[in-house]
Amino acid sequence: MSFDAPARDLLSRMTLAEKVGQMTQADHEFIKDPSDVERFMLGSVLNGGDSDPSSGNSMQSWRAMAEMYQGHAARTRLRIPLIYGIDAVHGNNNVIGAVVFPHNVGLGATRDVELVRRAAEVTAEETRAIGVNWAFAPCVCVPQDIRWGRTYEGFSEDPAVVSELGAAAVRGLQGSNLRDPLRVAASAKHFVGDGGTAVGSGIDKQLDQGDTRADSATLRRLFLFPYRAAVDAGVATIMPSYSSWNGVKVSGDRHLLTEVLKGELGFQGFLISDYRAVDQVHPDYKSAIAISINAGMDMVMVPDRYAEFITKLTELVNEGRVPMSRIDDAVARILRVKLAMGLLDPNYDFHADRALEARFGSREHRAVARQAVRESMVLLKNERGTLPLSKSSRRIHVAGRAANDIGMQAGGWTIFWQGKAGDITTGGTTILSAIKQAVGQGTQVSYSVDGSGAAGADAVVVVVGEAPYAEMRGDKLDLSLDAADRAAVSNARAAGVPVTVVVISGRPLLLGPVLDEASAIVAAWLPGTEGTGVADVLFGDYKPSGKLSYTWPRSMGQLPLRDGASEPLFPFGFGLTY
Ligand code: GLC
Repeated sequence: MSFDAPARDLLSRMTLAEKVGQMTQADHEFIKDPSDVERFMLGSVLNGGDSDPSSGNSMQSWRAMAEMYQGHAARTRLRIPLIYGIDAVHGNNNVIGAVVFPHNVGLGATRDVELVRRAAEVTAEETRAIGVNWAFAPCVCVPQDIRWGRTYEGFSEDPAVVSELGAAAVRGLQGSNLRDPLRVAASAKHFVGDGGTAVGSGIDKQLDQGDTRADSATLRRLFLFPYRAAVDAGVATIMPSYSSWNGVKVSGDRHLLTEVLKGELGFQGFLISDYRAVDQVHPDYKSAIAISINAGMDMVMVPDRYAEFITKLTELVNEGRVPMSRIDDAVARILRVKLAMGLLDPNYDFHADRALEARFGSREHRAVARQAVRESMVLLKNERGTLPLSKSSRRIHVAGRAANDIGMQAGGWTIFWQGKAGDITTGGTTILSAIKQAVGQGTQVSYSVDGSGAAGADAVVVVVGEAPYAEMRGDKLDLSLDAADRAAVSNARAAGVPVTVVVISGRPLLLGPVLDEASAIVAAWLPGTEGTGVADVLFGDYKPSGKLSYTWPRSMGQLPLRDGASEPLFPFGFGLTY
């Protein structure tokens, strides 16, 4: 990414206030007066989790909000447009009606580079449809302990899989030219080692935002590797992690942010902090700002006290605690990305292309997501040819809370930050509905949450799994199936009918007695809105091809899994077919 000359030229005409404004990102949730965008000459606005348009959740209201903020930016002296960020991490997942793709844990099981690129392309297009031009994705973490609540945001425990698929996601989101009106800037996250924290070192003595204790060689081999691939793929921004490396907050670590990422890897874009991550760098906020900016942070996701941030950073520059050269480097990086995106073209129009509305949540986009679901499914067990099911059975009984719940099959980061069980969005298909659509006219499909009523059916499908969660709220030290799910499988088994268990989860779970009670077991991960892809595999319209991207443990005592330490239930790379 060049654009250095025009960036330096514009920089030379900017006041300190305009420079510091460009380094400031505020969250819609905390912007009391939209004219603050002009007042503080903000460089960026975001919608963090649960920060929805005040006028309700529709693609039109999201679009109106983004364009409203851009309108304010257009009234500043230099008319520098906002780079507007959102967590479009598995589709434009905040917006009702958007296509929601499988989370990365499922995409990792596909091992399909082209499919991951295509899924990111659709995500970019549905993000641009609402006037947003930046996605805080892909997460290129390499989770080493599946008790971490963000495991599902990772493609795999294996850095090579993460590197390949993470780079594909960057290329899909950004396209070959950041100026492409159907693409968005990407943000590889969370640099570096977020997936390697030690249990007990994180929030509430669990894992999230904890400490990764590793020597430099291990950090590079496991966690740095995917960033080299993302930088080589031209990623425009990178988000440093909340976590620490050997006790030092990465978001304040000059060696990692400047010497390694910008120096050694040659990253030319800009660093965007995580949400209030700068606050954690030092107990005194002004000192935290000084440490993080001097370490190499370029833009700060404040996201609330942006006036205070601007005041303090300005003071730090005037006091000589943050050199102007560091400010100029940060702003030049931000301007280079905005120039590459075409935001500073004379005729730039921040309004979303209205033609994209018809393709938002379209059948064509859903077909891409359906294929991703098909390829993400991993067949773990299939005795006596239980699968594929017959579409001409007399009766198929379906059970389990997760069988008829779009919110559960989509998981966290869907409509709500934490996700939510229930009918939370439109246009999707639950697994139960998909099974009903798949069978022939003469086949009855019955349903019960608890598995009752299975007697007399030709086959039973029990969908078990995790309720939605995100980040630290997903940290869990016991990954056993819950009692209601185990009971549903036992009830179904008692009917003497072959039981297929479908697991909806953000990570491998401990199957316990279900392992023996089920005749067939399929890992469906968090498939998103297109439950049709699950039915396609259950009925053999698509033969399972997914391969585990995470080792599946036999017991909690095996975690965190180390190579060869003990025999897992299903090894990395495992997956059967028909
Ligand atoms: C969150 C997450 C990060 C996300 C950001 C904005 O805390 O750590 O992945 O992009 O804040 O929502």
